[in-house]
Amino acid sequence: MTAMHHCRACHSDTKEIMSFGRMPLANAFLKQEDIGQEYFFEMKVAICPTCFMFQLVDQPDPSMMFHGNYAFFSSTSHHMAKHFETMANTYMNDLMTDPDPFIVELGSNDGIMLKHVAKKGIRHLGIEPSSNVAEVAKRNGVNTISKFFNEETAKEVRESSGPADVICCSNVMCHIPDLHSVAKGVVALLKPTGVFVFEDPYLGDVIDKTSYDQIYDEHVYLFSVTSVSNMFAPYGLEVFHVEHQTTHGGSMRYYLCQTGQKNVKDSVTRQREKEKEIGLSSLETFETFKLQCERSRQELVDLLKKLKQEGHRVVGYAATSKSTTVLNYCGIGPDLIEYICDTTPIKHDTASPGMHIPIRPYEHFQKDNPDYAVLFAWNHKAEVMDKEKSKDIQWITFVPQVGIVNG
Ligand code: TMP
Ligand code: ZN
Repeated sequence: MTAMHHCRACHSDTKEIMSFGRMPLANAFLKQEDIGQEYFFEMKVAICPTCFMFQLVDQPDPSMMFHGNYAFFSSTSHHMAKHFETMANTYMNDLMTDPDPFIVELGSNDGIMLKHVAKKGIRHLGIEPSSNVAEVAKRNGVNTISKFFNEETAKEVRESSGPADVICCSNVMCHIPDLHSVAKGVVALLKPTGVFVFEDPYLGDVIDKTSYDQIYDEHVYLFSVTSVSNMFAPYGLEVFHVEHQTTHGGSMRYYLCQTGQKNVKDSVTRQREKEKEIGLSSLETFETFKLQCERSRQELVDLLKKLKQEGHRVVGYAATSKSTTVLNYCGIGPDLIEYICDTTPIKHDTASPGMHIPIRPYEHFQKDNPDYAVLFAWNHKAEVMDKEKSKDIQWITFVPQVGIVNG
């Protein structure tokens, strides 16, 4: 632990935990003509000993990431589509009890959640910075504006549509470097009795499973109940309920209200106790995490080299954002993984960021008979294993441990 850096949440000095080395943007899949002009940054993570926010030290300009060609469309995963339908029903049933409620979603993507609200004729608005995904949402009948959310946007929305009963987002907050601008926006737009609810990959799961691949340029933060409570307290917002989710290999949903407006549920006290037990506010925990990452890297590289020496063919399954961290941190290239198959057309016939492993359509994998596949979509393990059960292949995983699992 060496260099100093100011906490993005509370401005105190942070402690650097580790560097993952030179890293490209996780979703910068390369066309032939882009090779040789990639953007790299040194990816280091730090913990704040004051507010316990886990964060990236340096981060590329967000405008480089959520551009018009943003590759990620939420609706490509079945499992996630179901998760968002359940979420929409939960919010409509539990949080929108006023006669004419208004719900605002930040980073609403292609409308995967809000379309269920729109179908019921409930007033809603999606605020989605990526213009191409916002267009898809509008075609799906979801009211959407293509903007970054901040105090100014919040005031404009309040002016035109009134205050919000619910402001929500999923896998968005951890992407936003300036949480203060979001907090000010929430304060400006939320009704006094309203609820701000968001969910993101949970630091507790990352530490528990050594799933360091949740760390990449787009994830500026890995939150805990402790750090979220500390972050929003100065804005008069309080976490009154939390719910653990299985999505993204373990996420936490945080429900916030104006401080004192609602009873704080046991779920909050219990989870904060648990965070103390697992050491999320202890620097030692993060020193151990660093050693676990190094060990995981060594074991994965050793395994792939061994299989290669034995003459086996190894491919990758799903060109996830997370895979960019694993491949670059471990230095795994086309010599160890022949190709990565993926179902997303926009990624086909590109090279993986940094390590330049070819990305092939899923159909290519279906016809092919490699000996092993590295499961980069480990968070969808059950779904994938079921889909591929007839295939004669061995699966390599690295979360929570490096190893071979039989399909
Ligand atoms: P993400 O983890 O960055 O959201 O990306 C998921 C990627 O994984 C996306 O490109 C689709 C791909 N994928 C497959 O190709 N097959 C699968 O079975 C799953 C679950 C994901
Ligand atoms: Zn801090």
